[in-house]
Amino acid sequence: MTSTPSLAGKTAVVTGASSGIGRSIALHLGRAGAHVTLGGRTRSAMEETAREIEKAGGAARVVVHDVRDVASVRALVDGAVAETGRLDILVNNAGVSYPSKIADADPEHWRVMLETNVLGLLAGAQAAIRAMRACKAHGHIVNISSIAALRRDSGVYGATKHAVNAISATLRTELEDDTIRVVNVMPGAIATNFARNFDPAFLAGFAKMTGVDVEIRQGERLPEEVLDKLQPMMKQLLGDPDDVARAVLFAVTQPIEVNVLDIEVRPAKQLNL
Ligand SMILES: NC(=O)c1ccc[n+]([C@@H]2O[C@H](COP(=O)([O-])OP(=O)(O)OC[C@H]3O[C@@H](n4cnc5c(N)ncnc54)[C@H](OP(=O)(O)O)[C@@H]3O)[C@@H](O)[C@H]2O)c1
Repeated sequence: MTSTPSLAGKTAVVTGASSGIGRSIALHLGRAGAHVTLGGRTRSAMEETAREIEKAGGAARVVVHDVRDVASVRALVDGAVAETGRLDILVNNAGVSYPSKIADADPEHWRVMLETNVLGLLAGAQAAIRAMRACKAHGHIVNISSIAALRRDSGVYGATKHAVNAISATLRTELEDDTIRVVNVMPGAIATNFARNFDPAFLAGFAKMTGVDVEIRQGERLPEEVLDKLQPMMKQLLGDPDDVARAVLFAVTQPIEVNVLDIEVRPAKQLNL
């Protein structure tokens, strides 16, 4: 049996680390020995994850910021470099979805999706390239896209993920002669707070299945208890954030000559996102 190579001595930054997929990726990288900077909006959730990483013998740092603010993304990366002297892994994970027909949508929601899913990711990638080149890292930039990027009619959210796929492929070409690899990850439906902006009546139906008595408010994070109970009940349709985190850990522990381009991770049955 082989074990996962250690990330001891490596520095990682994960955006959107306060929930779901980002939280699980931060935990997996931290447990593998990386010094992890967690970026996100909910401090308490990130502090809980940082404590878990520290309990496993790792080191973590928590930064509350808004990924839509380019200067704050640069500061997130620069802070990790200031503390550890290097950057080896950036996971551009923060993302949001406001599902709506284009004719009915609030244009402000388009702005939030584009600024979070695309501009925040670009700012992260640019800051990471500069930091990785400065310390001559064997680095990985991991962009969390979606299976929505594999369909042409996946709405404005899907359009942001098509953009992520294009940016990942472009960065990969631009960085061919650097020791920086770009990994594009396309998750399918995963049980997280991603659904926070979905129709509350739809979410209430899922919450009811778990037996947890909770009032669903659109835009708010779901109770952990609901997500923890729902995923095992619906595992044919809903993946676990850890499924994605293991794929990321695999990609970032490959030798730098190995180019892991795209990873699609989804449960057995596919929900359209
Ligand atoms: N779950 C799925 O089915 C699925 C499928 C395909 C792709 N994805 C992608 O996976 C990524 C992670 O999503 P998830 O499923 O883990 O959803 P999630 O549980 O809602 O997590 C999203 C994360 O992004 C953070 N975030 C959102 N806007 C931000 C902002 N302006 N500034 C800083 N942080 C911000 C959130 O912070 P707070 O919670 O603190 O607000 C949270 O940590 C996203 O890119 C999403 O598009 C998800």
